[in-house]
Amino acid sequence: MNSEHATLNVDLGARSYDILIGEGLLQQAGTLIRPVLARPRCVLITDENVEHHWLGTVEGSLDAAGIEYLSIVLEPGEQTKDYAHVEALTGQLLDARIERSTTLIALGGGVVGDLVGFCAAITLRGLDFVQIPTTLLAQVDSSVGGKTGINMPQGKNLIGAFHQPRLVLADIGALSTLPPRDLRAGYAEVVKYGLINDADFFAWLETNGPRIIASPDTADMQARRHAVLTSCRAKAAIVSADETEQGMRALLNLGHTFGHALEAKTGYGETLSHGESVAIGTVMAFDLSVRMGLCSIEDRDRVKNHLAGCGLPVGLDTIRDAGWSSSELIDLMGQDKKVAGGKLTFILARNIGQSFITNDIDLAEVTAVLDDHLKA
Ligand code: GLY
Repeated sequence: MNSEHATLNVDLGARSYDILIGEGLLQQAGTLIRPVLARPRCVLITDENVEHHWLGTVEGSLDAAGIEYLSIVLEPGEQTKDYAHVEALTGQLLDARIERSTTLIALGGGVVGDLVGFCAAITLRGLDFVQIPTTLLAQVDSSVGGKTGINMPQGKNLIGAFHQPRLVLADIGALSTLPPRDLRAGYAEVVKYGLINDADFFAWLETNGPRIIASPDTADMQARRHAVLTSCRAKAAIVSADETEQGMRALLNLGHTFGHALEAKTGYGETLSHGESVAIGTVMAFDLSVRMGLCSIEDRDRVKNHLAGCGLPVGLDTIRDAGWSSSELIDLMGQDKKVAGGKLTFILARNIGQSFITNDIDLAEVTAVLDDHLKA
């Protein structure tokens, strides 16, 4: 185990914070967190899956650092990100007599991070929180940047707040206990950074991707570390420049306009995870870019082949049924937060590494892309 870690900074003035990336951070969590605590008093929140692997390790590190804590374990799964769980969790926090100086610690994947971050944003008008992401998706995307929130029947992440963590600890070692499907789903968000503005990184992933998502005995930890570090560096730069998504932060939604509609259609469940929806949505975004004469077929095929080669879904063939229609999917896209003046926002590509934001889209082209996927 390599205990050295890299440190990146998310530069947001008084709300700036560090992202620490390395191995063995869970074992040192108490010592690493202690300097950002107003008082050595925390509530550590995780889910049943992560409890099994890592809760004892983190609790031991808090004990060793002299930090008092209460642990709360949630049920796993996307259905935990709803109003009922916000009410239950905030109620537990108040019953525990937390104070404004109490820090919440989110130990887990994107669901735990988003829910705990949102509860931190609204409880006692704002508590500090620390992210300890244990999935690849959370390490490279959701734990960084302060987007917190819950899903609604009307759409994903529609209730929430920007609330930045005080610290992010991304322990690469935690990825060793991830189910392969979750690792692959997170990998879709890693690929995103290459496609947005870093063609060299995408080319590196074409060679190294299989070693990143390989099983623990054959995985290349240096490659994983490089992938997480490069992704977090890209995300930190975008968030520092546009914290509340007035402009360029929307680039991080590449594949998400299509993807969120697919997640909503399949009920945020086992059929399609967030990362899998993003993989299909990314291919759709490149299909649309090709249709509009913006992107070469060769680049679209490189993207599709790489995602498929890493075991990600790139079409609807295994999930759609005869009742699906393009108009219904477009309707679901209309529930997206990124609708402006009634127009859908898409992230399109002028080839790999040259993504851009637009809402100047002919819906007939979007319909054609979806129809192609629905009949493929
Ligand atoms: N996951 C997209 C963002 O943080 O902006």
